[in-house]
Amino acid sequence: MAINLNKRISTQELKSGKTVVLAGWAQDVKFLGKLAFIILRDREGLAQLVATKEFKDLKKIKSISRESVLAIEGEVKDSKSRAFKKEIKITKLEVLNKANPLPMELAEGAAEEETRLKYRFLDLRKLRMKNNMILRHKIIKAIRDYFDKQGFLEIETPCIAKSTPEGARDFLIPSRVQKGKFYALPQSPQIFKQLLMVAGMEKYFQIARCFRDEDMRSDRQIEFTQLDVELSFADEEMVYKCTEESVANVFKEAMDVKIKTPLPQMKYEEAMRRFGSDKPDIRFGYELQPASAIEPAIKEKRVKAIVVDKQLSEADLHELAATAQTYKAKGLYVLKGSKLQVYKRLGKPSEIKVSSASISKLRKSLKAKEKDLILLASEEEYSRGSTPLGQVRITLAKQLKLIKPGVWKLLWVTEFPMFEWKEEEKRWVASHHPFTQPNPEHVKYMKTMPEKVLSRAYDLVLNGTELGGGSIRIHNAELQSKVFDALKISKKDAERKFGFLLNAFKYGAPPHGGIALGLDRFVALLAGEDSIREVMAFPKNKAAEDPMMASPDEVSKDALWELGIAKLPK
Ligand code: AMO
Repeated sequence: MAINLNKRISTQELKSGKTVVLAGWAQDVKFLGKLAFIILRDREGLAQLVATKEFKDLKKIKSISRESVLAIEGEVKDSKSRAFKKEIKITKLEVLNKANPLPMELAEGAAEEETRLKYRFLDLRKLRMKNNMILRHKIIKAIRDYFDKQGFLEIETPCIAKSTPEGARDFLIPSRVQKGKFYALPQSPQIFKQLLMVAGMEKYFQIARCFRDEDMRSDRQIEFTQLDVELSFADEEMVYKCTEESVANVFKEAMDVKIKTPLPQMKYEEAMRRFGSDKPDIRFGYELQPASAIEPAIKEKRVKAIVVDKQLSEADLHELAATAQTYKAKGLYVLKGSKLQVYKRLGKPSEIKVSSASISKLRKSLKAKEKDLILLASEEEYSRGSTPLGQVRITLAKQLKLIKPGVWKLLWVTEFPMFEWKEEEKRWVASHHPFTQPNPEHVKYMKTMPEKVLSRAYDLVLNGTELGGGSIRIHNAELQSKVFDALKISKKDAERKFGFLLNAFKYGAPPHGGIALGLDRFVALLAGEDSIREVMAFPKNKAAEDPMMASPDEVSKDALWELGIAKLPK
């Protein structure tokens, strides 16, 4: 008689003396004298199966290849093995499906990422990957439970839509019915959620798929998931409250970690000044300090310093200089004793003449001791979000192992600039998006001094990573038009792109605000993974391809013809 799979229990529910049915994958098969051992894996874990000489069909066990699917019936006994407290003496065994020799090793670190993605269905069998999927599920469940309890509605918004304003490139879908016209996949549900507020839904959330055609990085995929939230009649504090409570609930449910709320808040200006970053990692000190006393000697402006009370090797200093240079600094100045040197990524450091009076003035202003090392760089030019020394601080933390595992530091960064200058386009662009409300007191500067305008935007930062961002929105068509003017978006363009939103604002739009958290980033941080690819079931590789399905792929001429698309000659 065939084994009754309806009676199946998990490998983690074994009780001695009971007859049980188990099913799963043969992770390992071994023979020891007249005994055979099988390590059986199911989703919950591993179990050790033993076939003694009473089990007549040893030949069948010999034929089991690794990762074949088995069902067994047997008796649970206490085990003497170190790894297993129980083992199952097999009475019946069925090979439900025999596996071919594997195209990749399932041991951690044994296969290249490309192979892992090609055979993702095998890669996900690894314990770490399985645990990441379980953690992701728990996090999403904790989020849904929290927002449901607080009276939020989960509402789905379309994926076949129109361009949305998050500033990345769109993925376009050609229309078959209206040839030459295109839908766009949403970069976020931003416009829809604002329309839901106009519609009177008051409290909305969604676990939302977003699509952005941008370069892939360890924390960026072209398709990713957001926890998207919007509230009517809300100010910043109301958005902070539900966001941080939902995040704290995730920590409690998925990690058994208590997060103290309310979370600290820091203005953007302070974050840049003290940490050289708009996503400060506040798990360690080594803050940036002004160091203008040294400026005449090195002939650079806006010089800042980090005082280091520990030893650094020459290789460390070159690595720090490389970091500073990547973030647009000319080099890293290092003051050791009375010697000031400039380090570059490569080559010998060169010495700079500096008076002992300037050195003591600098040391005094920094409250630095004689034996302390002082790292200096000009902060005049920096890439968005981080100054050279801000990034040096992060590399330094790795070198000095300043970050202890299991420490979780969250904070809000607030009052971001409303606009930033885009040199390539020679115009101001919205730092967050054009629906963010400017600080009402700064509206008067919008035309003449856009750099002075701060916004009602905020970011949530976890351990130095931007977890999410949002803002209090504009809910008035007139102010929205003023912002479009400041961004040099013509009336015609604004009407074509967002006319429906401006129109909706004319029929009773409540004040509203919201936020979106990068769910993949959140899961990756909690799982301790460096890349969000490790917490997504089927991610794309660095070249934005799926090696398993071989996408993107060519399509037939007929399919293109039907869409009214012709290929350009190569
Ligand atoms: P924003 O563009 O800041 O805001 O996105 C919110 C969060 O989404 C995550 N994220 C990504 N994660 C993986 N891959 C990507 N390519 C990617 N891009 C962004 C980040 C980020 O903080 N509509 C606004 C939110 C709002 O104003 O309510 C928005 O999308 O963690």
